[in-house]
Amino acid sequence: MAKKSEKKEKMERIKLYIDGFDQQMEGGIPKGHVTLICGTAGTMKSSLAFNTLYNEALNGKTGLYVSLEQSANSLLEHAENMGFDLSKINLVTISDISKLSSNISSIKSSKGGSLIISDLGSIRKQVKGTKIGPSGDWLNVIKNIIKKLKEKTECDLFVLDSLSALYVLSNFDDPRTKLFYIFEFLRDIGLTTFLISEMPLNKSKYSEYEVEDYLADGIILIQLTERFRKVVRELSVVKMRSTNCNTDVFTLEYKNKKFYATQGGKPPIV
Ligand SMILES: Nc1ncnc2c1ncn2[C@@H]1O[C@H](COP(=O)(O)OP(=O)(O)O)[C@@H](O)[C@H]1O
Ligand SMILES: [Mg+2]
Repeated sequence: MAKKSEKKEKMERIKLYIDGFDQQMEGGIPKGHVTLICGTAGTMKSSLAFNTLYNEALNGKTGLYVSLEQSANSLLEHAENMGFDLSKINLVTISDISKLSSNISSIKSSKGGSLIISDLGSIRKQVKGTKIGPSGDWLNVIKNIIKKLKEKTECDLFVLDSLSALYVLSNFDDPRTKLFYIFEFLRDIGLTTFLISEMPLNKSKYSEYEVEDYLADGIILIQLTERFRKVVRELSVVKMRSTNCNTDVFTLEYKNKKFYATQGGKPPIV
């Protein structure tokens, strides 16, 4: 028994940097896990994923944010508006994947960590440049960026924003098989991954094909709930492998440039 707890203590965890929430799941998400961040539009899924990569970059880690829903500029504008000080981190925007090598030099020369952003436009250039048809193999382009970054840099984290956009852009004719191999790829390469999943407004499912739910190591859910005409964001862990976590529903707030999770309007009793 003692050995088991010793082993557990050694598990490295990635914080979500949500005050009052990380403590509720043994400090964070186990390193190398693939986690779905699910929610309807406007639940702050992108902001939450950005928040993790930003704070990890401050702590010396490197992460890749692939944005298929909004341009890098729009994402950064939003981040600045929320008060993230982008001058504090080594921010690398990939504007043309064929010039990835020069981006890699900037990542390598940075003393601390980096936040790397690749958006729809940069990937589209690459898809156009290949012999792949108009439906383009976006997935392979993304996989190639990951492989290159993992090979040449200390990239540890990956955000795909969003899985839903990838389904629109790529040919997912055999989704179950394809998804199985995507998850295998991410686990083999050893990146701690956040896959953003846009839920339908009726919240009938966490992910498009539902296989994502059992393939993922973790599911984090954000919901908008109306109470007395006031809409609040609610956060909960649906599933988190290898983690003794509190699955209660927390209120998610963003104030003073920080995310907070509270229970019943009060900070949770740890
Ligand atoms: N400065 C801010 N402080 C707090 N919340 C903000 C701020 N700016 C935007 N928001 C909220 O963030 C939401 C968008 O967040 P985003 O992460 O893009 O959501 P999602 O990715 O789930 O669609 C907006 O609908 C708005 O309510
Ligand atoms: Mg978003």
